[in-house]
Amino acid sequence: MNVDNILDMALTARFHAYAPYSKFKVGCAILLKNGQYVLGCNIENKSLGLSICAERNAAFKLISEGKTKNDVEAICIVADTKSPTSPCGACREVLMELLAPNTKVILANLNRDYIELTLDELLPHAFVLNED
Ligand code: THU
Repeated sequence: MNVDNILDMALTARFHAYAPYSKFKVGCAILLKNGQYVLGCNIENKSLGLSICAERNAAFKLISEGKTKNDVEAICIVADTKSPTSPCGACREVLMELLAPNTKVILANLNRDYIELTLDELLPHAFVLNED
């Protein structure tokens, strides 16, 4: 996995962000093992609770396009933050549901500073149902 490439794709995704209320644009790129990407951006609503984060948008697109966690190589999140952008708690839960715990996660900012970690490092002690 080339960090520059997945980061470029997350920046492309961010370009489509619809964030007229917060003005905080977020992009997310999920790299598949076959080299394709699934992109997501945040999309806000004037009823603010209806807004969706970039990471959840991308993860839901992954599933709705018929792909699974087994198809995923890595995920990258980017926004205009001083240090690399870290997903909110809700997105961590959704990513843990839909991606493998050892999925590579790249957190980045517009300066292209980045941190590379795994999903289970991002959400340690994740919620599990007894039957999981
Ligand atoms: N946002 C994301 O897209 N991802 C996150 O992990 C945190 C927040 C969005 C939601 C909202 O549109 C804006 O950033 C400000 O919170």
